[in-house]
Amino acid sequence: MSRTARPRHYLMCRPTHFTVDYSINPWMEPAKPTDAARAVAQWERLHALFRELGHTVELIEPLPGLPDMVFAANGATVVDGTALVARFRHRERADEAPAYREWFRARGYRTVVRAEFTNEGEGDYLPVGGRILAGTGFRTDRRAHAEAQRVLGRPVVTLELVDPRYYHLDTALAVLGDDEIMYYPAAFSPESRGTLAALYPDAVLASDEDAAVFGLNAVSDGLRVVLPEAAVGLAAQLRARGFEPVGIDVTELLKAGGSVKCCTLELRGAPA
Ligand code: ARG
Repeated sequence: MSRTARPRHYLMCRPTHFTVDYSINPWMEPAKPTDAARAVAQWERLHALFRELGHTVELIEPLPGLPDMVFAANGATVVDGTALVARFRHRERADEAPAYREWFRARGYRTVVRAEFTNEGEGDYLPVGGRILAGTGFRTDRRAHAEAQRVLGRPVVTLELVDPRYYHLDTALAVLGDDEIMYYPAAFSPESRGTLAALYPDAVLASDEDAAVFGLNAVSDGLRVVLPEAAVGLAAQLRARGFEPVGIDVTELLKAGGSVKCCTLELRGAPA
């Protein structure tokens, strides 16, 4: 199958203040040392890679005291130029929301929506084809899904996450193309597994090993799929399907429970 890449527009945040000094997911161990310089170097490589692949990358200023702000995917969900800003589950990240709201305003977005219900942006909302796949169970409130459907104007499909290691949808499922995804079935409730199997019968399924190195925390432009380099099984499966996997080392960020996709918020459509 021949595939084509579509240039994308991303928002990222340099991990200047990166550390793990609290724990809000099972990957975060504050006792384990982190290295902000190493985090920045790995992130710089990712940032450069997106540009080499022909994408546009904008930046939001990292704020001291918000070590998880590097995970820009959580800041909002942007569809057709409308930005639905996150409302974080944990107090530790709450102050990121106004920073993102301000960024969109300053950038000329007129429809910047302050969410009523808890939602962690593209961590749990993944637009694919005409719909939005929406995670719940750990972070995003189930009631937020109806709000996202109303604000973003696309049907939302609720998916329930059941394994705390895969607490955001983007840790267990990645969008590959207009109607193609890859995911880790064990991260979902039996009912949601049924939903995914019915909607995406040809999806790429990840092994335990590939899921555990955050192989599903990947960013695709329709052809090139940027993913953690340790996810070798997934890379082989993607190559067999005509994608071009590009492995990258972001293991320092994995200490906070994040990887490639977590660092990348897609800006869809011109500011509306
Ligand atoms: N430490 C962050 C948290 O637990 C990691 C966020 C990862 N982001 C993502 N899109 N999955 O909130």
